[in-house]
Amino acid sequence: MSGVATDMSAYWDRAGRVWVEQQALLDRLFQPIAQAVVDRADLRAGEAVLDVGCGSGATTFEAAWRVGPQGRAVGADISGALLELARRRAGEQGLEGVDFVQADAQTHDFGAGFDAIVSRFGVMFFPDPVAAFANLRRALRPGGRLAFACWRGPEDNPMAQVPLDAAAPILPETPRFERNAPGRFGFADPERVRSILAEAGWRDIAIAPLDDPTPISFDELMTMSLRVGPLNPILSNAEDALRTQVRDAVSAALAPHAQDGMAKMNSACWLVTARG
Ligand SMILES: C[S@@+](CC[C@H](N)C(=O)[O-])C[C@H]1O[C@@H](n2cnc3c(N)ncnc32)[C@H](O)[C@@H]1O
Repeated sequence: MSGVATDMSAYWDRAGRVWVEQQALLDRLFQPIAQAVVDRADLRAGEAVLDVGCGSGATTFEAAWRVGPQGRAVGADISGALLELARRRAGEQGLEGVDFVQADAQTHDFGAGFDAIVSRFGVMFFPDPVAAFANLRRALRPGGRLAFACWRGPEDNPMAQVPLDAAAPILPETPRFERNAPGRFGFADPERVRSILAEAGWRDIAIAPLDDPTPISFDELMTMSLRVGPLNPILSNAEDALRTQVRDAVSAALAPHAQDGMAKMNSACWLVTARG
């Protein structure tokens, strides 16, 4: 591991444990988004591709299938917990040409030979995004491609906001998503994304909406709301009575969005492409 900011890697080791625990659900929900990213990266057999903030590896694996055994797919992540799972899954799939590296993508020297960089939800967390994207550009061969998915805002992703609004009156501190700050909705504003990439030296920047009508059961939506979102760290340290109160309030608020045990969720993202 090199260039890993210790506080960030400690944070992601903790947060990453939730992604490890929920890996099967998260991968099923967001597999179409990994596919869309890799499709847009236009990967060819034999190419070298870097997956940034790879987590437990779903997008790295998707990329590895496209570049084939003559190619190379490298997943980079700051979280040791997620990389441990990613390495195990790569072994189980018998994938060739896949490597994982524990690194802070903002500063790590990845070498200079990649044909493409991809990411599903792994690039919105950099404290200094311009420096990070300048560093990533250095990992590409001239003219190499960038393709990543990031979330549009909570107004387009109401299933993320509804649980927070329901829990807010009950909790001592109000959990909120911050726009334009490192985090899930850090890249919600497309003009901000465009200017970060341009300042970091990327060109041919294109940003298009990607909407995935994500099939999810009501129980899975409750898991996403209570375990994966910003409520999780608050509830993990809460008394049982408060946890129950929040769960009941969130369940009541989500109920109108569900029918026959299934909920309506659209994953509203930006699909961003550029050239180095
Ligand atoms: C929301 S998760 C997405 C994981 C994975 N791409 C997926 O879709 O399943 C964000 C990931 O970015 C990683 N990450 C955050 N900051 C990072 C950094 N500076 N360098 C490398 N990885 C980082 C986290 O550890 C986490 O695995």
